Amino acid sequence: MKTIIYAHPWEGSFNHSILEAIKKELDKSNEPYKIIDLYKESFNPVFSPEELRMYGIGETPYEKVKEYQKIIVDSSDLIFIFPIWWYDMPAILKGFLDKVMLKKFAYLEENGVWTGLLTNITKVNVITTASMSKKDLTENGNAIQGVFIDSILTSLGIFKENMKWIHIGDITDPNNENRIKFLESLKNYI
Ligand SMILES: Cc1cc2nc3c(=O)[nH]c(=O)nc-3n(C[C@H](O)[C@H](O)[C@H](O)COP(=O)(O)O)c2cc1C
Repeated sequence: MKTIIYAHPWEGSFNHSILEAIKKELDKSNEPYKIIDLYKESFNPVFSPEELRMYGIGETPYEKVKEYQKIIVDSSDLIFIFPIWWYDMPAILKGFLDKVMLKKFAYLEENGVWTGLLTNITKVNVITTASMSKKDLTENGNAIQGVFIDSILTSLGIFKENMKWIHIGDITDPNNENRIKFLESLKNYI
């Protein structure tokens, strides 16, 4: 199953147009898919003391996290859609990683060695928007390719070669043509 993990609060945004374009493409295939819409579902990225107490044993009292873990276990493809905020992903998505990617569920750690457990995920597309280009982001912190894809997701057992970062920069350019072309190009990745 394909699962979209979406992090943008506003329906008037370009990220929302990306979400709609991907949904339209997936609807054509009649394949089932799920959407985790973090803002719409009021996901709380702030750790409570109880959550952090249980974190060390890979457990959680937060029912939504258990629900999201079930969806991820049933998924083979993940599609992340989010804007770049301060060179990185929005905090709500970082909180999703913090809370959902728990020990025993997403990885094992023994004597400092990590083994990723999400080997059911065989394809990941990370779709981002920003004013900056992919080159600017890569040269300044490299949070998406370097940290998110090559470090976090590979630690969870997903192969680097099965992941792709798709980015549109210059998002504030009033010329709409690039945006339209970008939306059309998305069908090539899904
Ligand atoms: C809090 C915040 C931080 C941002 N930081 C960056 C940044 O570091 N680099 C960048 O190129 N754009 C940055 N932007 C611009 C957003 O990436 C841009 O508004 C967004 O991609 C546009 O897509 P949207 O219409 O779907 O919101 C930031 C915007 C916000 C709201």
